[in-house]
Amino acid sequence: MDRLVIFDTTLRDGEQSPGASMTKEEKLRIALQLERLGVDVMEAGFAASSNGDFEAIHQIARHVKDSTVCSLSRANLRDIERAGEAIRPANRGRIHTFIATSPLHMEMKLRMTPDQVYERAIDAVKACRAYTDDIEFSAEDAYRSDPAFLYRICEAVINAGATTINIPDTVGYATPELYGAFLRDLRENVPNSDKAIWSVHCHNDLGMAVANSLAGVKLGGARQIECTINGLGERAGNCSLEEVVMAVRTRRDYFDLETGIDTKQIVPTSKLVSTITGFPIQPNKAIVGANAFAHASGIHQDGILKSRETYEIMRAEDVGWTQNKLVLGKLSGRNAFKQRVKELGIPVETETELNAAFMRFKDLADRKSEIFDEDIQALFTGSEIGMQKDAFEFVSLRQQSEPGEQPTATVVWNEEGEERSSTASGNGPVDAVFQAIEAVAQSGAELQLYNVSAITGGTESQGEVTVRLARGGRVVNGVGADPDIVAASAKAYLNALSKLSTEAPCNPQHTI
Ligand code: KIV
Ligand code: ZN
Repeated sequence: MDRLVIFDTTLRDGEQSPGASMTKEEKLRIALQLERLGVDVMEAGFAASSNGDFEAIHQIARHVKDSTVCSLSRANLRDIERAGEAIRPANRGRIHTFIATSPLHMEMKLRMTPDQVYERAIDAVKACRAYTDDIEFSAEDAYRSDPAFLYRICEAVINAGATTINIPDTVGYATPELYGAFLRDLRENVPNSDKAIWSVHCHNDLGMAVANSLAGVKLGGARQIECTINGLGERAGNCSLEEVVMAVRTRRDYFDLETGIDTKQIVPTSKLVSTITGFPIQPNKAIVGANAFAHASGIHQDGILKSRETYEIMRAEDVGWTQNKLVLGKLSGRNAFKQRVKELGIPVETETELNAAFMRFKDLADRKSEIFDEDIQALFTGSEIGMQKDAFEFVSLRQQSEPGEQPTATVVWNEEGEERSSTASGNGPVDAVFQAIEAVAQSGAELQLYNVSAITGGTESQGEVTVRLARGGRVVNGVGADPDIVAASAKAYLNALSKLSTEAPCNPQHTI
């Protein structure tokens, strides 16, 4: 069977979703999970866009061993040098260089003639060879480009050393049959097309990114799909990794292709990306939505009980859904905790980190009698991530709210080792908490998003809160989990403040 290369760009195109910016630590955490998922290539960022992104790619290149680590780069020498330096420590590193080829982009955006673009593309690919043999060339806005020009430029960049040719539908304008035929014609008209792997990169503006990508593979002969977890990406997003992978696997009879993805890692990866970016997953989202395998109608439930295949084409456990498994409780010891953390594939680098997580586990078990896998995973997200100590740490909360009365909250936290306490009232208990923290912190940040979700089912579930703050063009997402959602909100707010106060953003400005 032919191999379909899965190129994940959650950390680059996905991060371009407004509000989805990530810190270096968060990018590394996602990268390690993508490696566990089995992606062939991960685009870790755009090295020339900021020092933060350069460092994030460099760090990922040092830690990730099994996937190829790639940096995006415009077709100019400075970008290529930054990309080449960023991927240098990687076991396998790729540079992905691109330039726009559509008449509209060349004339209006680049202000270059087609001949200039042609020469620049060749020079860029040749320059990449100083750093790696694994070179991808993208013709940005390829789908709206003149096919004859694409034949010429693709042939030339393959001769110059490009090993993957990517044909983006940058603005999500394609339809499946037309896009498939476009790819097929390209491969038929580029004389050396067999010397490169052809790749698809489809945006979802008309909701057809997955269908277009699969048509590019089936009809057009592409053997690499560029995609993101949960379909994150510019505007309406990119092709969703979980959907294409499961389509190819479930309809193996039709596609006759295999991927290297460990599908059981799909749901944990999706949850991690959602938590870190603060982008909730809609319940009816294919594969990873909470309802994707839920059968509500009586007729369906009856059918499922008699024979699973009546209404199910995939098994929930094959994509990593678990049965809210009760694993540990108040009396569980450190070894049992350590074992479960290992089984869940949570990367814990030091004993100190494990001990800190175990203390959080004990604290949680005192307040919540049943601890599920999802609760353990939440101990390692957001402020609990363990890789980096928060500048603002939650200590305690007292709050009062009664119908008809204005709620008040007193929050106590540690700021760089000093205890702070503040009391305020607000429209609701969460508002009172945020007002109390802001009365002292005076961050001047704007609250852009507040989201609560239940980590497991039932009223005993922990609430997981995401808070998105923006200040001076910087956007950060804070996360906090607690059985008390007001306390979870305080933790999330303090986590967001910590991020604002410390790390430089990875991508202050993408200039694509
Ligand atoms: O959508 C696009 O064209 C891109 C390129 C940079 C590959 O993201
Ligand atoms: Zn894109």
